Amino acid sequence: MREKLDALRSSALGDIGTASCAAELEILRVKYLGKKGELTAILRQMGTLPADERPVFGALANSVRADIESAVASRASALDAEALAERLLRERLDVTVPGARVELGRRHPMSIVLDETRDIFIGMGFSVAEGPEVELSLYDFDKLNIPPNHTVREWSDTFYITEDESVHLRCQTSPVQVRYMEAHRPPIRIISPGRVFRRDETDASHSPMFHQIEGLVVDRGITFGDLKGTLNALVGRIYGEDAKTRFRPHHFPFTEPSCEVDVRCVVCGGAGCRTCKGEGWLELLGAGMVHPKVLAGVGIDPDIYSGFAFGIGVERMTMLRYNIDDMRLLYENDLRFLSQFA
Ligand code: DAH
Repeated sequence: MREKLDALRSSALGDIGTASCAAELEILRVKYLGKKGELTAILRQMGTLPADERPVFGALANSVRADIESAVASRASALDAEALAERLLRERLDVTVPGARVELGRRHPMSIVLDETRDIFIGMGFSVAEGPEVELSLYDFDKLNIPPNHTVREWSDTFYITEDESVHLRCQTSPVQVRYMEAHRPPIRIISPGRVFRRDETDASHSPMFHQIEGLVVDRGITFGDLKGTLNALVGRIYGEDAKTRFRPHHFPFTEPSCEVDVRCVVCGGAGCRTCKGEGWLELLGAGMVHPKVLAGVGIDPDIYSGFAFGIGVERMTMLRYNIDDMRLLYENDLRFLSQFA
């Protein structure tokens, strides 16, 4: 019996000392100390011993159990320490390695110009209105006094959504004027920036999607002088106080009279160059006095109220501002290009 216990102790201590992981150690613990384990099996045989020998073997068995238990405990803490050391090695962090640089983004040149323009108009008491990009032809055409046979209504010009031509991608921001006037009474002072869509091939000065800023002012006694003053203020702020404008007669169905506004060429100062195609002037926007039919159509009495409106091309304004000669640069998101604008 004594030999059995001694043998058990030494084989247990040997096994436990070389257990390679916590799971294996647990298996050994159960094997030696568990209810169905080897020590229990030996103790069961104690009943066969003479009564006076039992305490001796009992004490011996207890010391064997204690030895095995402490071997298990010390092997467990050794394995823990090994695991920790291994994990520390694996997760080692070199705090002296230089950090990954986080590149700060920049605003797109069109966003810069749009934000400035918005600020200028807000400073003049305008608020910002929005309208849908998928628009009813009713708003983009009919209520803007665009006649049924106008070329803009052709399928080759406009992205229709429905076969019956009642819904399309708006080709201008002007329908926001109508929507706003239907919901608000004068005095009205709004701008409305947004995307517009036309079936144009992409080239240096065209894109099937581009941006406009619509403007609308309606009140008693609004004159063409207000239109000129407002747009001259805008041009002065965007292109510098000595920028010159030219108001040239034009035609739009929703304004009367109508004009286009040119800025004296920012490249040659008016002498004539490639950018202005020898003209000395660059076209910036369309504008005019809101047509009485448009006012009457939204229930604003044109005998009491008058107004002016304008539509600015944001790409064009940006290109003139930064002397960019190809519109496609604005859409390509090439960081070498975009990083030039602060
Ligand atoms: N909607 C016109 C266009 O896309 C621009 C325009 C001209 C807007 C005159 C206006 C305006 O509000 O009064 O060509």
